[in-house]
Amino acid sequence: MVYCVGLTGGIGCGKSTVAQAFEALGAAVIDTDSISHALTQPGAPGFHEIIRQFGADFVLPQGGLDRAKLRALIFSDAAAKAKLESILHPLIQAQVQTDLKHCHAPYAVIVVPLLFETQSYLAWVQRKLVVDCNESSQIARTMARSHLSEAEVRAIMATQLPRQERLKQADDILHNECDLETLRLSVAALHDKYTAFATAIAKP
Ligand SMILES: Nc1ncnc2c1ncn2[C@@H]1O[C@H](COP(=O)(O)OP(=O)(O)OP(=O)(O)O)[C@@H](O)[C@H]1O
Ligand SMILES: [Mg+2]
Repeated sequence: MVYCVGLTGGIGCGKSTVAQAFEALGAAVIDTDSISHALTQPGAPGFHEIIRQFGADFVLPQGGLDRAKLRALIFSDAAAKAKLESILHPLIQAQVQTDLKHCHAPYAVIVVPLLFETQSYLAWVQRKLVVDCNESSQIARTMARSHLSEAEVRAIMATQLPRQERLKQADDILHNECDLETLRLSVAALHDKYTAFATAIAKP
């Protein structure tokens, strides 16, 4: 199996930005959020199973999944959250496995926002990379990108591992307090390191 790096970080810390930079350098990027999104499009297996278990009230008039309603439900109802996860997690993991099998890049970066919280991916990754920034940047960047209030961003952060706990478990850390060009240079240095690790492992 291809050499795998697990990329994680708190909401808005820069996971997608970093993943794009790795992809531009030739790494394969497997993004569990994108997979989850694809699996919950009308016609996809996750969509069908969610509607079967949660009901047709979660379909919008245009036919798509009512993501806002589902998000609100699972935020206030732990059993509903567990039910949704039991539908989606196995489907996402199966798709990640398929993508890894078909991967021809020197190594793969799997983006898993809750890498340490869910633990499911830890056995598959050879290296854990955390992208980190301070809480004020995290909140400002998330608010600028989404329509969430500061209180809503903080509520999501409270469901994720505290920053220091995440950092403690990292093999590598990308400090994302810099401009994007500096971030890309740090990604390029890690890309060289991961390419060398992957090459060393691939040798007979
Ligand atoms: N170094 C940076 N300088 C300025 N803006 C940045 C920087 N890094 C990321 N951003 C911006 O901050 C926002 C959040 O970044 P990004 O989407 O990469 O984070 P994420 O960790 O993937 O978020 P999520 O948890 O919501 O998936 C984006 O709008 C991105 O363009
Ligand atoms: Mg992202």
